[in-house]
Amino acid sequence: MKKNINIAVIGLGQIGNYLLNELITKKRDIELKTGKRIRVVAISAKNPNKKRKFKINKNIFYKNPLDIIKRGSLDVIFEAIGKSDGISKKVVELALKNKIHVITPNKALIAKHGDYLSMLAEKNKVNLEFEASVAGGIPILRTIKEGLATNKITKVHGILNGTCNYILSEMELTKDTFTNVLKKAQSLGYAEPGNPKLDLNGYDAFAKVRILSSLAFNKKISKVKCLMEGIENIDFKDIEIAEKLNLRIKLVGITELIKNQLFERVHPCLVNKDSYIGNVNGVMNAVIIHGYPIGESILQGEGAGPGPTSSALMSDLLSILRGNIKYPFGISYKKRKAVNVYNLNKYSNSLYLRIEVKDRPGVLSQITKQLANRKISVARLIQIPDNRKKTASIVIITHKTKEQDVQSCLKSLRSNKNILKNPILIRLL
Ligand code: HSE
Repeated sequence: MKKNINIAVIGLGQIGNYLLNELITKKRDIELKTGKRIRVVAISAKNPNKKRKFKINKNIFYKNPLDIIKRGSLDVIFEAIGKSDGISKKVVELALKNKIHVITPNKALIAKHGDYLSMLAEKNKVNLEFEASVAGGIPILRTIKEGLATNKITKVHGILNGTCNYILSEMELTKDTFTNVLKKAQSLGYAEPGNPKLDLNGYDAFAKVRILSSLAFNKKISKVKCLMEGIENIDFKDIEIAEKLNLRIKLVGITELIKNQLFERVHPCLVNKDSYIGNVNGVMNAVIIHGYPIGESILQGEGAGPGPTSSALMSDLLSILRGNIKYPFGISYKKRKAVNVYNLNKYSNSLYLRIEVKDRPGVLSQITKQLANRKISVARLIQIPDNRKKTASIVIITHKTKEQDVQSCLKSLRSNKNILKNPILIRLL
């Protein structure tokens, strides 16, 4: 690789702008560590005049990012627009076809088009790096690809969305509303650009799970969505009840191979307050890898925000500058096989149920009878009465049971006039 490296940054939102400043201020450090002299030769964003934390050099500004690639003499581009398709995909595709290395924190793009883009990168003998797409500043992808290269990984799970973890922690700590806490998360640059829904509905964490699965199990990216639920319907009442039970609600992402079938899921989980994962709070992410011979290995760090994300982007840059073309997903796209998906109907777990009822004789036994009919065993049960309204919250934690049976039990309770609202179901980890 030549000594002078020309770089472009496309997308100057909170992440792109922070990264640009890092590139400018860390030039010397990069040269010391890699022997390469970098120069930012082009930048692009929707609006050159937007108020930004760090000033931009308008002399190298391009309105159309595709013109940057067409201008030639470019070695590396950062794509920080963040869309799963559209201009993000066009920019990355065109860059790879023009033999330009690509670095991106865009998990939506990689989770959707990673197989195709890695094929393009391999064919054109350039790198496609996306360390920042999973768990912000935590070097989890490089750890799987390099540090744990010969391990047989069976499961990866953890807290993969900083925005959701921050919201759940802050709600518990400050008793503030969901909306207020979300606003704080957005101002800190944690949420996905333009659309926090992608964080809240589990989509962001699911995209990360997909990337982790492909790397951990050396498989093609799955197209099937096994189970994806976000935190939008988490009620403060459940956070409070969980606290009384020494539990805490976390949005957890899990990928595992069960008899060679892939089971990917993202959903809120009740975790023990004294457990490791129960103490990963705020914007922190944590990823737990189960493998052989490594055993269980845990990495924790800030999972969102311009600083941690830029740290991962810079590590990708240095990896490229140090040389060698690497397979984006650890092994060649030709060797990564499609994977069969686990049947969700087989899934058994311990479940938390909250059922709002009229406080009348016989109501509890109507519920437990339905559970008994399906051989669902109760592990814990509490009733919290509201004497003023003459209602009660019945909270049941089941022993490990088929979720399908519990769902059918809840369905049969729907016609019961003593039950006031749709019951809440939260899985235990
Ligand atoms: N919006 C993401 C999160 C950050 O909250 O974790 C980048 O992945």
